[in-house]
Amino acid sequence: MADDLFGSFFQATVPPLPKSLTFAGKTAIVTGATAGLGNAAALQIAQHNVSTLILGVRSLSKGETTKAEILADPVVAALPTKPSILLYELDLARPSSVASFASKILAEVPTLDILLLNAALAISTFERSPETENELMTQVNYLSNAYLSVRLFPLLHSTAQKAGTKSYLTIVGSRLQDTTDFVKNPVPESTPILEYLNNPKKFKLTTRYSDTKVLVAMFVRELAKRVDPSVVTVNTVCPGLVSTGINSNQPAWLRAVAGTIMALRARTPEVGARTLVNAVSAGPESHGEHLGDYKIWNNKFLNTQNGTSMVTRLWKETLAAIEKEAPGSVQAAGLEA
Ligand SMILES: NC(=O)c1ccc[n+]([C@@H]2O[C@H](COP(=O)([O-])OP(=O)(O)OC[C@H]3O[C@@H](n4cnc5c(N)ncnc54)[C@H](OP(=O)(O)O)[C@@H]3O)[C@@H](O)[C@H]2O)c1
Repeated sequence: MADDLFGSFFQATVPPLPKSLTFAGKTAIVTGATAGLGNAAALQIAQHNVSTLILGVRSLSKGETTKAEILADPVVAALPTKPSILLYELDLARPSSVASFASKILAEVPTLDILLLNAALAISTFERSPETENELMTQVNYLSNAYLSVRLFPLLHSTAQKAGTKSYLTIVGSRLQDTTDFVKNPVPESTPILEYLNNPKKFKLTTRYSDTKVLVAMFVRELAKRVDPSVVTVNTVCPGLVSTGINSNQPAWLRAVAGTIMALRARTPEVGARTLVNAVSAGPESHGEHLGDYKIWNNKFLNTQNGTSMVTRLWKETLAAIEKEAPGSVQAAGLEA
């Protein structure tokens, strides 16, 4: 009732996950599991019986703390079989770390049922990856996640085929993408999109985070077209406004504004993370789609002429960039530009 009356300000209720949900026998990767939503999602996946939980973490010591906390959780501690929790170093800002993470997973992990690419960054200044010319949020929130999707796709696929089950590839997005600058300022046809994003003159502090999330939705849509959802379901999800450290790198004035709004209407990480766990167990209708909480949410921009032309261009550019970094990976994933 409160949701109906105050729906425009207060967020809808997110029902608890079904008790019957089980990840028994499955292997899941969660990135950004040392804080916020990823931390809460990793715990919930463990509480729902996952067999092997791989945490992709920037800091191994923070990862150790997360691992200990998950194993000490009363629900997890009471499970007849405790999950095996493995830590792998992953810094999405550095392509060398992302490549090494993918290679180690492919070499050391025999099966992969769930790839939950949750980690992301929100900042208000133009910064570049320490290793490339790429603008930092473009690298962390988009390019590194696209790279991991392609490199790890064959493992998701082979796992599902061998076991006769379904795997999941979910990238965490955001409905904030509605505020993308691409609506008002389309990337000229003559300029490669990734080159445009690396131009400091095109950087807008208020919209770049949203721009990176629209890129995620575009990539997911295009990837899904080439994948059978009964083998690997590919989707993206927005957890709503959730009280986490996502604004910790923002300037003080923005943290103050966001903090006030969060205090009034944000969900707890535990509630927000339910939407991530739902996405990695959702039905085939979520394939290629953007979930907002538990339901499919439509970004109108993606269906405009500007949006659809950008989807195609972005896909080609992204695959070319990944192929350059990891020759043969696009073909190994059975994808084509
Ligand atoms: N909070 C919201 O209201 C909201 C709304 C919509 C969507 N989202 C999305 O939800 C996801 C999780 O965000 P959150 O709110 O939980 O944020 P958060 O509390 O800041 O957590 C972000 C996580 O990502 C990790 N991370 C950041 N940069 C990284 C890098 N370069 N390499 C590897 N890991 C990195 C962080 O690691 P450390 O622990 O080492 O810092 C942390 O574990 C993001 O995709 C975000 O865009 C959030």
